[in-house]
Amino acid sequence: MADDYDPAENSRKSYDVAIDALREKLASFRCERVGDATLYLGDCREILPLLPKVDAVVTDPPYGINYGKLMKGKGDGQGGLDKNRWKHYEAFDWDAQRPAPETFDAIRAAGKEAVIWGANYFSDLLPPSMRWLVWDKCQEFSLADFELAWTSQNAAGRTFRYSRPEALRDGRHHPTQKPIELMEWCLGFLPKARTILDPFMGSGTTGVACAKLGRKFIGIELEPKYFDIAVKRIDDAYRQPRLFKDEPPKPKQEALL
Ligand SMILES: C[S@@+](CC[C@H](N)C(=O)[O-])C[C@H]1O[C@@H](n2cnc3c(N)ncnc32)[C@H](O)[C@@H]1O
Repeated sequence: MADDYDPAENSRKSYDVAIDALREKLASFRCERVGDATLYLGDCREILPLLPKVDAVVTDPPYGINYGKLMKGKGDGQGGLDKNRWKHYEAFDWDAQRPAPETFDAIRAAGKEAVIWGANYFSDLLPPSMRWLVWDKCQEFSLADFELAWTSQNAAGRTFRYSRPEALRDGRHHPTQKPIELMEWCLGFLPKARTILDPFMGSGTTGVACAKLGRKFIGIELEPKYFDIAVKRIDDAYRQPRLFKDEPPKPKQEALL
């Protein structure tokens, strides 16, 4: 071993090399910075290991029901809309599979807290939790009456009542788009979380809610067409003046426990 070998200096250099390699890999993805948001186009399974841990992950992963393929070619012939009147943007594979168990582990490890929507599709892949959130869609048609979110919190479950027609006032950008009000409501359960990550951001609804509440946002989306929609929606939202600084909406909620 050379006389001038300094183990502390050596480990500092190794650390710097590792960080530079992570930065270089992250820089290879398309990235847009709008307002207080950083948005990556790419596969979250590749990008998540390159990001620092955030305060909270709030997300809505693909359900694995193959919505895009089911609706392929089932339009009403007007303006490229499918039969449920969602624009398909020629993106058909985004819902082919639900995330693997290790992806759920990576999602939960990426934040100190987590809220995962669509969790009725993933209950076998998530640990037991006391706090589940319910979105009551106030409808009794053929579609589901409600949707569940798993949370990492040890507190009472809550319900948000918000009808589909009200939700559609946000515009139809993504077939499984969440209402902005629903995402603002669930951010109200994370009052200390300054930076929120959504690794499956779709049309960017979580980012829009973060902009409205003055939070920082990091988003990842695989489909370029949804990514571009998210960039525009989130940019527009951060440009709007905020009326109530850091004030979450009064939750329309009801204790389940
Ligand atoms: C259920 S949608 C989210 C919709 C969103 N909540 C909204 O309001 O628009 C899930 C999104 O995850 C994206 N996605 C699927 N696999 C992905 C992956 N490995 N990495 C990043 N995004 C992915 C899909 O393209 C889809 O847009």
